[in-house]
Amino acid sequence: MQVIILDSADEIGNYAADLILRGVERSQINVLGVATGSSPLPVYAALARKRTDALSRISAFALDEYVGLPYTHPQSYHAVIHREVTVPLGLDPARVHVPDGAADDIEQACAEYETAIVAAGGIDLQLLGIGTTGHIGFNEPTSSLASRTRIKTLTPATRADNARFFGGPEDVPHHCITQGLGTIMDAKSVLLVAQGAGKAHAVAQSIEGPVSSMFPGSLLQMHPRATFVLDAEAASELTLTDYYRFVYENRPEWQR
Ligand code: GLP
Repeated sequence: MQVIILDSADEIGNYAADLILRGVERSQINVLGVATGSSPLPVYAALARKRTDALSRISAFALDEYVGLPYTHPQSYHAVIHREVTVPLGLDPARVHVPDGAADDIEQACAEYETAIVAAGGIDLQLLGIGTTGHIGFNEPTSSLASRTRIKTLTPATRADNARFFGGPEDVPHHCITQGLGTIMDAKSVLLVAQGAGKAHAVAQSIEGPVSSMFPGSLLQMHPRATFVLDAEAASELTLTDYYRFVYENRPEWQR
């Protein structure tokens, strides 16, 4: 696991965008996993600034979607991904996939989503944020570490966190579809971005705590190519920050 501590959300955005664009230009990233929430917004802003035509050739798969919101609802992840990712990055809308939270048969929609990821060749890089509960995607605490795309029930804490996007807490749906932890672990590499003190505990548990379904982000310790890119506040509960900074500042030339 690589832990990179940078000075600001802008720096995090630039770092992640450069990494993604380099992978796309070299055809190492043909399928990008995209995340919602506020954390990846600086990454999308930097990608939009630096975008090249190569981005229009990639496929994208979103992590999750609310169940029961029409696609036209501004907070449905269909709408959010279209607004924040597809349009500003110049992606081909036909290649951008979001789980179908409005499906009549949710179980079938989840199975089809898994099939579509495999048919696209698998996710090359999965961009992630992390919830204050330690969730990645919408895999709340006690999610099966082997789970696949499925319906989940949001915790009260997550519904309260996301109330800022809705009229109030009671408007946040109770259910969602999310890629499972097993699905996320199948991505060839994962890049988690987190900013702010509110994420410090979830980040510390994920990087330095035991691997536990109580902090689903901790499963990334088992991923061979996982990178956390943090600001100082999000890194503030880590114990080995000096070591992470030393590793980053002294990385060999070929890793730069
Ligand atoms: C959201 C998303 C997650 C995201 C997390 C954190 O609800 N489903 O993919 O990582 O919660 O959100 P934010 O970045 O806004 O703090």
